[in-house]
Amino acid sequence: MKIEVLTLFPDMFDCMKSGVIGKALDCGKFSLNATDIREFSTDKHHKCDDYPFGGGAGMVMTPQPIFDAIKSVDPDRKCKRIFLSPKGVTLSQKVVLDLAGEDNLLFLCGHYEGIDQRVIDSEIDMELSIGDYVLTGGELACMVAINAVARYVDGVLGSSESTSEESFSNGLLEYPQYTRPQTYNGMSVPDVLLSGNHQNISKWRHAQQVEVTKKRRPDLIKEDKC
Ligand code: ADE
Repeated sequence: MKIEVLTLFPDMFDCMKSGVIGKALDCGKFSLNATDIREFSTDKHHKCDDYPFGGGAGMVMTPQPIFDAIKSVDPDRKCKRIFLSPKGVTLSQKVVLDLAGEDNLLFLCGHYEGIDQRVIDSEIDMELSIGDYVLTGGELACMVAINAVARYVDGVLGSSESTSEESFSNGLLEYPQYTRPQTYNGMSVPDVLLSGNHQNISKWRHAQQVEVTKKRRPDLIKEDKC
């Protein structure tokens, strides 16, 4: 998978170079290229924002640098083009899996009070939000989306970090995990996990998943999962 990001703050994406995602980038499992929109501004001061027509608070990102930046990184419109915005579709596991099926993604990060609507109308395929709150820009939202999507790219996670038994993988939240020592500060690991009986362990884990999901996220529970 190839990921292009357009942003006024490309350095923010340096933090993607660490951890599991950084290792996958080093190994070429997917590529991530953050491009500075400002480089495309034809304004003599490389300005990328201006006052909103009609008045109102704040500044709006101007269309020219964004149109030119998009044309430069995705000239043949191969990418699914996503604009990060609180007005977008909310990121969910379903959206993550859909995006993980794409070969080329382009994320556009906005700032100030937003971007000129003509960019969205003519260049963007999807607006994406990471939740009902407002950030100062799209970069953090973009990194959240990339991190969640990259986990489903072949070879990004090692076998020890599989996605098969985590929260949402079967529509339920994850069961509790324990490791050594068996007793810590008087708190013991549930006996069933020490029993070696894999059928009982599976049953216990499923029951735990149902319990925690009912308690915390009843909206996720469908009758056939219980
Ligand atoms: N930009 C500002 N707030 C955002 C949010 N909640 N999701 C995505 N992009 C944003």
